[in-house]
Amino acid sequence: MSSTIDATPMPSAPVADSPQSPLRLSHLARVTHDAEATVDFYTKVMRMPLVTCVMHDRIPSTGDPMPYLHIFFRMQDGSTLAFFEAPGLPLAPPVSHPMYDIFDHVALEVGTVAEVEEWKTWIESQGVSVVGPTDHTIIYSIYFYDPNGIRMEITTPLVDDWNDRPGKAAEAVEAWSKAKAGANSPEATIAALHQVVANWEPTTFD
Ligand SMILES: [Fe+2]
Repeated sequence: MSSTIDATPMPSAPVADSPQSPLRLSHLARVTHDAEATVDFYTKVMRMPLVTCVMHDRIPSTGDPMPYLHIFFRMQDGSTLAFFEAPGLPLAPPVSHPMYDIFDHVALEVGTVAEVEEWKTWIESQGVSVVGPTDHTIIYSIYFYDPNGIRMEITTPLVDDWNDRPGKAAEAVEAWSKAKAGANSPEATIAALHQVVANWEPTTFD
């Protein structure tokens, strides 16, 4: 199997004349089929106020005729989670593998391990099932689903540098990509990646 990934580590500094990385998350937007239930969950369970609402009968960026409601819920740093509801949208098709429901998720940070555990108690008291807490060695997390079927994570760092390990990250991507490129069948790819993981430090992270 060939790979189109260039495993060369990315430069840590911006290339001349390129912009710096974005400042922060503005909003992450998803589709809802029940704006009322979504408002109820995010304002009452997640304690995130409904701060902005947009309604149009046409998509501004494309001009597509479609009446829609666009709602935003804010966190303490000003970043928001946003949802669209529009009439007639069919439900999204089922995922092709259960891992999509695990890997695709939204993680929100709180201040301490104790707060993660308080969130677990609070969310369960609201009738929502919670998985965890899980100690990932670099972060500490619980998991649950919002009314739209989005997997949510409440997490807190366990080490100061959990998101500042660029050298190890580049090494991981390079080892992963080389193993894929060197395997010539799906079975060989899986075996090669098992070997890469076995040789890696035992940090779990999902
Ligand atoms: Fe996560």
